[in-house]
Amino acid sequence: MPFSADQLVEHLLSSGARNSESSAIRDLLRHAARKGLISLGGGIPAPELFPIDRIIEATAAAFDEFGARAAQYGLTEGEPELREVAARLAEEDGAPSLPDQILVTTGSQQALDLLGRVLVDRGDVVVVDDPAYLGALQALRKYEPELVGIPMVEDGLDTEALETKLRAGLSPKAVYTNPNFQNPTGATLSSDRRAHLARLADQHDFLIIEDDPYAALRFSGENLPSMASMSERVIRVRTVSKTLAPGLRVAWTIGPARLIEALAIAKQAADLHTSTLTQHITARLVGDAEWFSNHLSSLAPWYRAHCDALMTGLAANFGETLTFDPPDGGMFLWAELRRELPPGLDTADLLPVAIEHGVSFVPGSAFAVTTPRPAHLRLSYVTASPEQLSEAAARLAAAIDAWLQP
Ligand SMILES: Cc1ncc(COP(=O)(O)O)c(C=O)c1O
Repeated sequence: MPFSADQLVEHLLSSGARNSESSAIRDLLRHAARKGLISLGGGIPAPELFPIDRIIEATAAAFDEFGARAAQYGLTEGEPELREVAARLAEEDGAPSLPDQILVTTGSQQALDLLGRVLVDRGDVVVVDDPAYLGALQALRKYEPELVGIPMVEDGLDTEALETKLRAGLSPKAVYTNPNFQNPTGATLSSDRRAHLARLADQHDFLIIEDDPYAALRFSGENLPSMASMSERVIRVRTVSKTLAPGLRVAWTIGPARLIEALAIAKQAADLHTSTLTQHITARLVGDAEWFSNHLSSLAPWYRAHCDALMTGLAANFGETLTFDPPDGGMFLWAELRRELPPGLDTADLLPVAIEHGVSFVPGSAFAVTTPRPAHLRLSYVTASPEQLSEAAARLAAAIDAWLQP
């Protein structure tokens, strides 16, 4: 009997493809389609925040100005119009950059993959937040680095713990971190720690990958300086996924010119270039400084209201049995279950029970690097309405009771 097509493919897959696990987030998104389920899972921005009218206007304006060229093949490095806007924002960040230090990518996820491709040989040390953004772990792991997790504390990556390891001989090529409202913990790297990390990069000759998609989603406290303004060894990864719309798939990376050149060569092999049309749309929207700033200001109250609704719902349903540090922005609460868990029990096993109760979340283990996180849950407050968030907290409490029932 010959193989079925699927059996044949299973047999032919490269070892890398055979070994890559499906992501917990992707599996969840599939569940999220179930009727009546309230998702605290994926960080999917609310569609009502997308500036659809402006996107339509910008599309027409791009064709008026550039004709068919607005939808033609373009430069791998990105459309000059967008790179100019990116350079202006970098200057506002206190890190002036030349156009040849900027590469437009298809979402910031592509930048993470390309960085893995150009920086990592098998066994190279890369330091990451622990816990870390799952997509970064997936992108980097493909290149088989030795990932070293440094604990996230209340004010971001524990730079003292990193310094201790560096003094003991750790020699990373890069340190990957989210400085603002980290995914998954919601923690923000303090100014002192930013300066400390930048100093360590200069002293120990490593690159910092400052992946910062959430900076503009601050609803409490003061903006903090980007590490790109503190050291030339910083690669700053920006995206419009959380501020305009993720479907545009527009992001950019700013870093040393030699690195941008290597990334551009890798990108050429991956997808030639990012959509010309959505780059033009983005350049118009982000380039209209007054409109963009008003648009960003309109996001903060929305995020605050949603975060508050979830925190209030959790406090009412759990009291002290589920704890979290309130974030100053972003999309996530990193909650820890404070009830006695029987040995071996993990919130990954709670997920199917929660889905039965009509609520989803991402288990802590999905983000774990070195330290296991059996009692943690990442709860996103951006997909559901405030009323649904209160209901989700009640459903989660009922699911946990059912799960832990003797
Ligand atoms: C920390 C972080 N980096 C990168 C991304 C990828 O975003 P995109 O590829 O849409 O720019 C995400 C998405 O959730 C994220 O949370």
